[in-house]
Amino acid sequence: MRLDKELIDKLVNITSNASVSCYKYIGKNDKINADKAATDSMRVNLNKLDICGKVVIGEGELDEAPMLYIGEKLGTGKGPHIDIAVDPVEGTNFLAKNLPGALSVIAITLKGNLFNAPETYMNKIAVRKDVPYDAIDLDFSVEKNIKNIADALNKNLNDIRVCILDRPRHKEIINKLNNLKVNIKLITDGDVSGALLVTNKKYKVDLFLGIGGGPEGVLAASALDAFNCKFQGRFIFKSDEDINRAKKMGIKNLDKKYELSEIVRGDSIFCATGITSGDLVNGVKIDNGKFITETLVTHKNSTSNIVKKELPLLD
Ligand code: FBP
Repeated sequence: MRLDKELIDKLVNITSNASVSCYKYIGKNDKINADKAATDSMRVNLNKLDICGKVVIGEGELDEAPMLYIGEKLGTGKGPHIDIAVDPVEGTNFLAKNLPGALSVIAITLKGNLFNAPETYMNKIAVRKDVPYDAIDLDFSVEKNIKNIADALNKNLNDIRVCILDRPRHKEIINKLNNLKVNIKLITDGDVSGALLVTNKKYKVDLFLGIGGGPEGVLAASALDAFNCKFQGRFIFKSDEDINRAKKMGIKNLDKKYELSEIVRGDSIFCATGITSGDLVNGVKIDNGKFITETLVTHKNSTSNIVKKELPLLD
């Protein structure tokens, strides 16, 4: 069974409206109200869709997030059963500080096909589609992964580029990459975008790796699937609370390495609308009395492109 293609335009509208709704907070150092504006907008518009939707990745659990909490039912209740992953603002720091790369993101699948990821960290790896599937692995050493990519792409090590979040926890990996003399694209936030830089040669990133948010890993995986790129993830639990939450969500093997096919199954749609301009898409702009938005859209087996929208200015 496939998702109705008409949902694509509806989802583009949802992330576009969410981006526009937090436009006024760009550079205002107000993460909370920016996130609230985008979350409220997404929720109102998702509730207008003819779907029986359920949030599997959202703003937290019921007790900590009154809007778009995990398990929340969305839609008119009249259409197909859909699992929904949202990140109304991915890169809240970027938005708050008017830095490049803030996005509003959503991914959907048919019911039961999107991984119900706990709010914990995930060790992730994503690679270009022209690298053979078994050439890289979360369990290989950094050196082995890089050498295998260089062999597969017939490149010198110093022509390989790796994207990784700039965090103290990645010091050892970054040292190894430096020793190998590969190029590093360090990002300060926004590892959904970071992972998606392997989807197109124009971004000049061969490999994404490192530890970031688990929910962001699932969102990135749904787009990477449409681009036929490889992705693996393994959750990292730092506290008993994390572990209990994961167990409550049905995760039995806490050390399991998840393949992309276990995170997203079947048909999926992914939309990421720019709030501030970044590598993937431009941010919200005002032109001729209208908002202009840009959205990266992927629909497994049908499309991956950038869609522009015009929306009326808000009162
Ligand atoms: P927010 O937009 O929720 O602030 O997340 C930004 C982000 O950089 C994610 O892209 C990434 O997965 C995560 O934070 C990394 O977490 P941390 O900042 O704790 O290393």
